[in-house]
Amino acid sequence: MRTQVAIIGGGPSGLLLGQLLHRHGIEAVVLERKTRDYVLGRIRAGVLETGLVRLMEEAGVAGRLHREGYVHDGTQVAWEGGMFHIDFKELTGTPVVVYGQTEVTRDLYDAREAAGAQTIFEVDDVVIHDADTDHPHVTYTRAGLSHRIDCDFVAGCDGFHGVSRQTIPLSVRREYEKTYPFGWLGILSETPPVHDELIYANSDRGFALCSMRNANLSRYYIQCALSDHTSDWTDTAFWSELRRRLPENVADSLVTSPSIEKSIAPLRSFVTEPMRWGRLFLCGDAAHIVPPTGAKGLNTAASDVQYLWKGLVQYYQDNDSEGIDRYSEKALLRVWKAERFSWWFSGLLHRYPHMSPFDLKMQQADIAFLRDNEAQQRAFAENYVGLPY
Ligand code: APR
Ligand code: PHB
Repeated sequence: MRTQVAIIGGGPSGLLLGQLLHRHGIEAVVLERKTRDYVLGRIRAGVLETGLVRLMEEAGVAGRLHREGYVHDGTQVAWEGGMFHIDFKELTGTPVVVYGQTEVTRDLYDAREAAGAQTIFEVDDVVIHDADTDHPHVTYTRAGLSHRIDCDFVAGCDGFHGVSRQTIPLSVRREYEKTYPFGWLGILSETPPVHDELIYANSDRGFALCSMRNANLSRYYIQCALSDHTSDWTDTAFWSELRRRLPENVADSLVTSPSIEKSIAPLRSFVTEPMRWGRLFLCGDAAHIVPPTGAKGLNTAASDVQYLWKGLVQYYQDNDSEGIDRYSEKALLRVWKAERFSWWFSGLLHRYPHMSPFDLKMQQADIAFLRDNEAQQRAFAENYVGLPY
């Protein structure tokens, strides 16, 4: 088989790139390790920056997003001093859209199938060959049979545990990592959200987040120990702990019900440089990971995709490689700003082991400054709604 772009990974990055390329007459084949249903079974954050909404519109898949997504003009921050609102719309003129990542992925799969674009599921043993030449190819097995795809370019959209990043020689790669001494215990419940905006809470018992998927599907998180297992937490224990981390009036209005999903995720900051090696380009989680605090994972994958899509269109339509040659430089400039915001926001809200009384005072002063200072709120809002591409 031959194609123009071989995309490894059928998550949001790979699908969005494939759809944008298709809309510009560039052929791509997506290789996905799992089944479509497995991919759609993943529960992930769903706060969309305007940049991602525009890309979904450009990809022709924003219809349901506009019908069912929730436009949020701001967010709530709760702490010992109470709860305050940060007004994105007033400070930046831009809102965010709350729309589950699963729904983004579903819309992209539906569009890909409607377009008759090829996605090969349940592939194994994917290997990227000769990425540092003008004639890369990919081999894989499926149902015990071996296959080869010759291509012009390979897009490594296969996430943190994929093969693409590992294809870049260690002598070329530089990796930066920070792990966090806690995790997030998250549940999904068929209950009305406790507030019409998200609530990010700093409490003396640890971080909590109140989010949502729709009018009767809520998503809640509490910071937990890395040694915790979901089996350590009954629903009752979760609801009780969540209430203790929220302002009293919010806790009193919390509607609870049996969880329909419960999981614990570790937090990590990670970046690999460069994001290009020859004709291999890394996008999304294959190149970088952020703690979910700032909801930057999907949105930073989207900015990578935007740079790569535009670079490939420039290459094929204008015979100009400037866009792909500058891909890594441009993508990383924005990646590091998303890493910084996610790291900073995580530091503002979580209780870290061994925080001294002075450290705690600094954290509270940081939150008070965010509450009281318009410039600080504007800086927060500009990062949260999405810095320019
Ligand atoms: N071969 C083929 N597919 C693979 C391989 C492989 N060797 N390894 C992983 N995959 C697939 C995974 O099954 C997954 O569907 O690649 C896809 C990668 O998708 P994600 O991990 O979702 O990464 P990405 O598409 O970059 O999306 C980033 O998703 O993980 C969240 O928080 C992250 O919101 C961010 C967004
Ligand atoms: C979520 O809804 O899952 C969510 C929202 C915002 C975040 C993280 C997760 O910062």
